[in-house]
Amino acid sequence: MSLMLATFIPSFIIFRFVCLNNPSVIRALPEYRFPAYKYSWPKCRQNISASGVPGFYSLPRLIQDFLSYRHCRHFPIILDIPDKCGGANGSADIFLLLVIKSSPVNYDRREVLRKTWAKERLQNGVWIRRIFIAGTTGEGYEKNTLNKLLEIEKLEHNDILQWDFNDTFYNLTLKQVLFLEWMDTNCPNVRFLMNGDDDVLAHTDNMVDYLKNLKDNDGSKHLFTGYLIENRGPYRYPDLKYYVPVQVQETDTYPPYLGGGGFLLSGYSATVMYKMSHSVMFHPIDDVYIAMCLEKAELRPTSHIGVKIAGHRSPDNIDPLEPCYFKEILLVHRFLPAELYVMWNSLHDPNLKYGIYITYQCLFPTMVVQ
Ligand SMILES: *[C@@H]1O[C@H](CO)[C@@H](O)[C@H](O)[C@H]1NC(C)=O
Ligand SMILES: *[C@@H]1O[C@H](CO)[C@@H](O)[C@H](O)[C@H]1NC(C)=O
Ligand SMILES: *[C@@H]1O[C@H](CO)[C@@H](O)[C@H](O)[C@H]1NC(C)=O
Ligand SMILES: *[C@@H]1O[C@H](CO)[C@@H](O)[C@H](O)[C@H]1NC(C)=O
Repeated sequence: MSLMLATFIPSFIIFRFVCLNNPSVIRALPEYRFPAYKYSWPKCRQNISASGVPGFYSLPRLIQDFLSYRHCRHFPIILDIPDKCGGANGSADIFLLLVIKSSPVNYDRREVLRKTWAKERLQNGVWIRRIFIAGTTGEGYEKNTLNKLLEIEKLEHNDILQWDFNDTFYNLTLKQVLFLEWMDTNCPNVRFLMNGDDDVLAHTDNMVDYLKNLKDNDGSKHLFTGYLIENRGPYRYPDLKYYVPVQVQETDTYPPYLGGGGFLLSGYSATVMYKMSHSVMFHPIDDVYIAMCLEKAELRPTSHIGVKIAGHRSPDNIDPLEPCYFKEILLVHRFLPAELYVMWNSLHDPNLKYGIYITYQCLFPTMVVQ
């Protein structure tokens, strides 16, 4: 046990949010009614002319695939939970909807999340609900088995949305947009959402406190906040995971965006994102795509938030008289399910004031993302 703990403590990075105020103004959007949610779609066909792009055959296979299927936005839904939010009107009663990207194979992560930070509950007087979003993995027998697994989980927990597309890294944007489309029909009035990965630890108790303390924003105004990344552009080196060749994006810059491991947004911003997505071509990096959609509506990630990577700090490094109201964020990479379970329990152990883990929740509200 002590060995295991030692291996994951160093992966903490602590972020500090300074002055969380001034959520941006509401922007009037043109009225537009989308048709009701559609459950089946004809199979999307490969774009044959994509291969005519200069240099196509020298691109990695996955990028070729991305270009050939970039236009595909609709896939049949396999597992649906239309009653999740209590209908469109009922969805206003959900304060925080946790939308967790999960690949079918990650059964153990989902199980632990259900018992820890993603537990559905009345937290500090408001409702937290959970949805895992997934595509399919594998082929033939493997695919069928994993689909069966998700079906069983859905029956038991009512928390799985699954579409029939290949759940790969470059299809995460697709997954995001499919979710937004589903939400537009089934949960349009949810107050806030946390969008995140299934290997992160999110301190949802403190997220609720943070969101409830927002001045003048009950989810009906813009909020898009998390780990801000600025002044970046596509990596042009084929060996990198985030490789984006000119054939995919010609320009050299990305809008400011939020690290996709975990971020918070309002229901309003999610709706805007969805509307904008109709006219923004898919980008392979989902974090960037989301920011592109919001940029189109002139909505930005909360750039007034100071995010600092502080590394390890002890409680006495923090000046409790600091004039700005702020939150601490613990950022945890690649949590193993068992570690996450231990961590979450220790966060709630009244006898571990500062814990073996670095938590300042006794001094300040703490939230943990990614
Ligand atoms: C197919 O690819 C070509 C070349 O990139 C592009 O110009 C065209 O818009 C694509 N078609 C669709 C339907 O996306
Ligand atoms: C939802 O609320 C609207 C406006 O209050 C109302 O017109 C509509 O009938 C409600 N729909 C359902 C299904 O309750
Ligand atoms: C996305 O999913 C579709 C449908 O399964 C698949 O055809 C395509 O290859 C996937 N795209 C990538 C880039 O993996
Ligand atoms: C899904 O993607 C994986 C990895 O890119 C690939 O090996 C597999 O053939 C794809 N399956 C389908 C059905 O497209």
